[in-house]
Amino acid sequence: MQSCGVPYDHLMHIPVLLEEIVSAFEPAAGRRVLDLTAGGGGHSEALLRAGAQVLATDADAEAVLRVRQRLADWVESGAARVEQSWLDESLSVAAAVGMLPLGGVLADLGLSSFQLDEAERGFAFMREGPLDMRFDRTHGLSAAEWIERSDVADIARVLRDYAEVDHAWRVAEAIWAARPIHSTAHLRDIVGRASPVRSGRIHPATLVFQALRIVVNDELRRLGDALPLLIRALQPGGRIAIISFHSLEDRIVKNVFRDLARSTQPQPGFGEDPAQLALVRVLTREPITPSASEIERNPRARSARLRIAERLAES
Ligand SMILES: C[S@@+](CC[C@H](N)C(=O)[O-])C[C@H]1O[C@@H](n2cnc3c(N)ncnc32)[C@H](O)[C@@H]1O
Repeated sequence: MQSCGVPYDHLMHIPVLLEEIVSAFEPAAGRRVLDLTAGGGGHSEALLRAGAQVLATDADAEAVLRVRQRLADWVESGAARVEQSWLDESLSVAAAVGMLPLGGVLADLGLSSFQLDEAERGFAFMREGPLDMRFDRTHGLSAAEWIERSDVADIARVLRDYAEVDHAWRVAEAIWAARPIHSTAHLRDIVGRASPVRSGRIHPATLVFQALRIVVNDELRRLGDALPLLIRALQPGGRIAIISFHSLEDRIVKNVFRDLARSTQPQPGFGEDPAQLALVRVLTREPITPSASEIERNPRARSARLRIAERLAES
């Protein structure tokens, strides 16, 4: 199979925590699972093999094409559908195709390998390309345009809030002064010069690229808005499994699960808050992390954290 002139296998995305995801949705037979981040289609395919019906969505048009190709037999048989959608809009897609209520929701956040590998997507500072970073290249501002329209304070806030960049103000000033910045290599060099001498293993541009990707795709707002609605769309016994790759995402998942697992009583004299029954049971007290052997096979898995919750019956 070929894509963009590059052999498909070269860009194959290795699904993270695959066995753990399949067992989270056991028994899979007949379960209707919404895969919000289809990516390379690995998790979706494993769930289909286990007997689930899958609606696979992704904001990235190229991911959608790849997954449609990979799952072609299941699409033809009616067991799978693949649609382009942001994760906070996928519930409407599920409603439109008659998938509700859901038996499962899966998100494996972040980037697919092919997005990192293709220089023209602008996600990787090691590859010279346009400074884009949008999952959906037909809408919104590219990272270059976002920088162009921002002031130093905006840039510093994003670097600090979305990636805890050291000396965020100094790096933001250097970025702002160097505008326009059209390429990944240009941004990497500016950040390299403005950052304090490196002590750790990671290049300072790693965190700057993470922060820009988050703001350009509005990733944290989308996740926080979507999770409570997705949980409410689960049938009793339905499960939600989210794999995150950095602490900001993981904190959102943990807090939403914790809040919806709590029952509250109305407090006389303290406003009109109605009683709330717990909607979910959290199945992972601590997040599940990949084994040493998985990390050895797939170093990209090393920061993955999986949290799972189960929808309770309404009583
Ligand atoms: C880590 S990959 C998923 C890999 C997939 N589970 C597999 O097995 O191949 C993440 C995918 O999620 C998509 N994505 C990330 N954030 C998204 C969002 N907020 N809405 C929709 N898609 C998103 C990206 O385009 C990317 O293709």
